[in-house]
Amino acid sequence: MNLGQHQTEIERNRRAWESKPLLREIYASFYQRIIGLVDRSLPGRIVEIGSGIGNLKSHLPEAISTDLFPNPWLDLVCDGYELPFADGSLSHLILFDVFHHLQRPNAFFREARRALRKDGRVILFEPFISWSSLPVYGLLHHEPVALRRPIDLSEPAPNPRNYYAAQGNATRLFFRRGSGAWPPGWNVFHAEPLSSFGYLLSGGFSKPAMYRGRWLPQIQRMDRSLSRWPRLFGARCLVGLRPAAGGV
Ligand SMILES: C[S@@+](CC[C@H](N)C(=O)[O-])C[C@H]1O[C@@H](n2cnc3c(N)ncnc32)[C@H](O)[C@@H]1O
Repeated sequence: MNLGQHQTEIERNRRAWESKPLLREIYASFYQRIIGLVDRSLPGRIVEIGSGIGNLKSHLPEAISTDLFPNPWLDLVCDGYELPFADGSLSHLILFDVFHHLQRPNAFFREARRALRKDGRVILFEPFISWSSLPVYGLLHHEPVALRRPIDLSEPAPNPRNYYAAQGNATRLFFRRGSGAWPPGWNVFHAEPLSSFGYLLSGGFSKPAMYRGRWLPQIQRMDRSLSRWPRLFGARCLVGLRPAAGGV
């Protein structure tokens, strides 16, 4: 399967976004979480990688929205493995549901380190795999969870770039015991699993919602409580990283 699969999904997602106000509300709360990790006092540009249908920008207008494909609502075409930005010029790189499409995460982190300021930040928002989210991501979503498939931690960017998806990668790399030293040359300053039945039961971009939009505030309240037990109830995660001083 080649990279065109992403563009097919972007077009489908745009249609769902326009017809499903519930999804827009859920994503607004996700964007606020991400923005909570943005330090606006840092000089340099904020760049979103893999913006897809490009909605973060309506909550964070100063972000440069980018993707692999030249869609009219984006600012720039940009590959996360080969950032078209000068060394040390960026304050933030934001990836929403993009990290699990990076076949070689270390190749991305090497390039991110080059383009970011020394005190810059990478912010990731990803699926989190728990006892309750696994059946949903595994059975109802077309992308593999791939909890047992080896993750390629080599540093050169993949060539050719083929479509890749492994929804379990952030959970495995940032939240499993022994993952503390990864990625080399970075400090993880924030790693938060979140319960999100509001999202899981919304049917996302491809399935019908299992609840009425007016129930969302109560479900979100329940999610805030259930986030205390991420192994059971986690469904999303927010990760923030900074380059380590003197790192590789
Ligand atoms: C699941 S979509 C997420 C889109 C958007 N961030 C959102 O949350 O709706 C994954 C996106 O990552 C992009 N992508 C995949 N690999 C990429 C890479 N190497 N560099 C930049 N973007 C990439 C795809 O084109 C796609 O738009």
